[in-house]
Amino acid sequence: MKRIAVASGKGGVGKSTVAVHLALALAQKGFRTGLLDADIYGPSIPTMLGIKERPSLKENKVIPIQVRGIFVVSMGLLTTDDMPVIWRGPMVANLLQQFLQNVAWGDLDYFVIDLPPGTGDAQLTLTQKASLDGAVIVTTPQEVALLDARRGLKMFQQVNVPVLGIVENMSYFICDQCSKRHDIFRSGGGGRVAQELGIPLLAEIPLDLKMTKACDRGEPVVTEPFQKLADKILEEMPREKPGEFHLRW
Ligand SMILES: Nc1ncnc2c1ncn2[C@@H]1O[C@H](COP(=O)(O)OP(=O)(O)OP(=O)(O)O)[C@@H](O)[C@H]1O
Ligand SMILES: [Mg+2]
Repeated sequence: MKRIAVASGKGGVGKSTVAVHLALALAQKGFRTGLLDADIYGPSIPTMLGIKERPSLKENKVIPIQVRGIFVVSMGLLTTDDMPVIWRGPMVANLLQQFLQNVAWGDLDYFVIDLPPGTGDAQLTLTQKASLDGAVIVTTPQEVALLDARRGLKMFQQVNVPVLGIVENMSYFICDQCSKRHDIFRSGGGGRVAQELGIPLLAEIPLDLKMTKACDRGEPVVTEPFQKLADKILEEMPREKPGEFHLRW
């Protein structure tokens, strides 16, 4: 199994969106894929995937929820409303470690972890405990977001986790009226920072209002940029053969 974290130095840049679509794209390519929403403070993956139920327990193991061909556990769904505020980084990290051991994931090919935003102690401990094989850093093209992407890279380097590359989200917008490409934010920032840091630019994801709506409805659709992202991940982190796993929708 390959464990991939999706991280960002900054909140709201589209980390959960990338994690969900990457996991779905890998599953559609025939790999048995798990998705862990480790963001206990603001879990958004249940909404994005239309998950309403809490995971069940069987023989002291958490049974992941099967949805759209992937296996999902959201740590946020297992906490109560008043709990998260008092939680500290190490407590979250311990919970994550328990999770990794006590969930009946089955024999996964790929395991995608949506980390909480930021590069503080909580994220550092999570990163250390999750025995990651690689990380993807999501950023938007503006310079302020890019500074945070650099911080993200440093965090992973500190714990010797290879950074697979940068995903630039909200890169551009194709107008449905005039079909022209508009660079809403400063263009090419992700590419520049990737070059500067010596890591690949894995994908440029356009601003896509259909995608926002689909995610709000809990019905995400894997579009071409995400398929290409999954292909790049597979190239960088090959799995010998797809698991004996058939999609069940
Ligand atoms: N490329 C995009 N086009 C349109 N909407 C997007 C795009 N990427 C993300 N969004 C929307 O922006 C919002 C924030 O995205 P998301 O929740 O993935 O960010 P995040 O980095 O995980 O945030 P947080 O830091 O709160 O965890 C969501 O409503 C999502 O649907
Ligand atoms: Mg998120």
